[in-house]
Amino acid sequence: MRSTHDVLIIGSGAAGLTLALRLPDHLRVAVLSKGPLSEGSSLYAQGGISAVLEEEDSLDSHVADTLDAGADLCDPKTAEFVIREAAGCIHWLLGMGVPFSTADNEDGSTSLHLHQEGGHSHRRIVHAADATGRAVETTLEGLVRKKANIEIFEHHVAVDLITNRHIGGETQQCHGAYVLDEDHERVVAMAARAVVLATGGASKVYLYTSNPDGATGDGVAMAWRAGCRVANMEFNQFHPTCLYHPRAKSFLISEALRGEGGKLLRPDGSRFMHDFDDRGELAPRDIVARAIDHEMKRLGAECMYLDMRHRERAFLEKHFPTIYARCQEFGIDMAIDPIPVVPAAHYTCGGVVVDRRGCTDLPGLYTIGEASYTGLHGANRLASNSLLECLVYGTSAADDIAASIDGLPAAAEPPPWDESRVTDSDEQVVVSHNWHELRQFMWDYVGIVRTNKRLERASHRVDLLQSEIREYYSNFRISADLIELRNLATVAELIIKCARHRRESRGLHYTLDYPELDTRLSPTPTVLQP
Ligand code: FAD
Ligand code: SIN
Repeated sequence: MRSTHDVLIIGSGAAGLTLALRLPDHLRVAVLSKGPLSEGSSLYAQGGISAVLEEEDSLDSHVADTLDAGADLCDPKTAEFVIREAAGCIHWLLGMGVPFSTADNEDGSTSLHLHQEGGHSHRRIVHAADATGRAVETTLEGLVRKKANIEIFEHHVAVDLITNRHIGGETQQCHGAYVLDEDHERVVAMAARAVVLATGGASKVYLYTSNPDGATGDGVAMAWRAGCRVANMEFNQFHPTCLYHPRAKSFLISEALRGEGGKLLRPDGSRFMHDFDDRGELAPRDIVARAIDHEMKRLGAECMYLDMRHRERAFLEKHFPTIYARCQEFGIDMAIDPIPVVPAAHYTCGGVVVDRRGCTDLPGLYTIGEASYTGLHGANRLASNSLLECLVYGTSAADDIAASIDGLPAAAEPPPWDESRVTDSDEQVVVSHNWHELRQFMWDYVGIVRTNKRLERASHRVDLLQSEIREYYSNFRISADLIELRNLATVAELIIKCARHRRESRGLHYTLDYPELDTRLSPTPTVLQP
């Protein structure tokens, strides 16, 4: 037995760190991360956090924009709840010391500077230039590291949740997690009274993604194996504009550039977004990504272009310093060159089904942030609503844990991990080959445009891969790569299952076999029972 805590938080992005800081000081808390504490999608978030902060804006308008982007599949009550809490979360972050960008007003005062992004009918994106995630994540990291009640376990990979299957007994309960230690040598049991999955998204299941390497859907896969429901996995969001350059792995070109008048151009310099939607470049993301994909395929073009030449160099350097510098590194001067862009997998709208407190189907297990399905995003997430969801549910889960932890059973003693039948593998190539194959066929068959035939093909492939992975998993000592591959295969299976279930096109799920919205039925989320 390695350790016992009151609360075990698996994941240290915006969701996990918010929860850790919001818990009362008398609770002993463990925070796990696969790599360095700050590594994860939160660190790379650019555009910002949406919140209603100006008089001309309104909660109703933010809710309406969220429901509209979500193509009638959001839970309106969840949207109202999250959006109502937004301003409080921004003030909490300001109190924590996050250096958001400000603007000088005519009367000499300053206020938060607000950006606009696709699908928003007002400027309401709070940001720290174009590196909002870094400002939030590093500020929260600094605070968490100073807290005496929080123990940090970096480079630890959670393998599976500990449930009654391991402990015995009739009452369903999550008791902790098996975790690969920092040397990646031993699997240790970490017991806790409350366990929180804050493991982020799963966009690494696609070949091209804006996400960092760790976005492999570990939390969704672990919760699914532990018997929790998972919903809406067919709605994987593709961000319209990632930098297209052979050396620019996963670099995002923020939607905030389109908010400042950025125009999308074909290679011949003509604009095209108004052919697809009256809102042009500021249409919701699913529409813009599909339009770019359509034009690339139609013209056989490798990319489209984002034109910012209408803005002064000084403006671009001030408002988008990270993007400006990164483009310069690749010889692109955004003040005079249109930026080459392509869509890439960006955000997992579905996830583990939770209630308003972040509680899952398994008592003692919470899920927050991108790993969860709260009902906020429906069939397509509105820009900058994700960090917001991390903050709101990090808070509500912390409140619930604080209120209920005394009623939860004491952490049970889990049996040690059984490695008696496994040997070291000398075939690492099997893992890397399968990893690549999976991501390639997900991109080709389960991407922006789907068909029944492509989904069927993908389903066969994932079945085969899963049986190979199962055999490998039971015979050889586990590695971090194998854990991630196994989880990616589970996530792929869940995405394909949900996609095959939905016989219409809605939001991010577009299929040539059912190209229309099904207006005969009232729209319902796709909920999978384990
Ligand atoms: P993450 O920040 O991804 O953190 C996941 C954590 O879980 C990490 O600490 C990781 O190490 C840990 N973890 C995962 N699996 C395991 C395991 N098995 N064992 C141990 N630890 C594990 N959203 C917005 O609202 N606004 C934006 O401007 C914005 N910009 C974005 C830009 C980019 C480039 C990207 C990729 C995303 C952007 N998003 C944005 C989306 C948003 O950043 C993410 O949805 C959000 O940060 C997810 O936070 P999280 O805390 O759920 O997970
Ligand atoms: C961006 O800056 O374009 C990303 C915003 C988001 O994912 O919400």
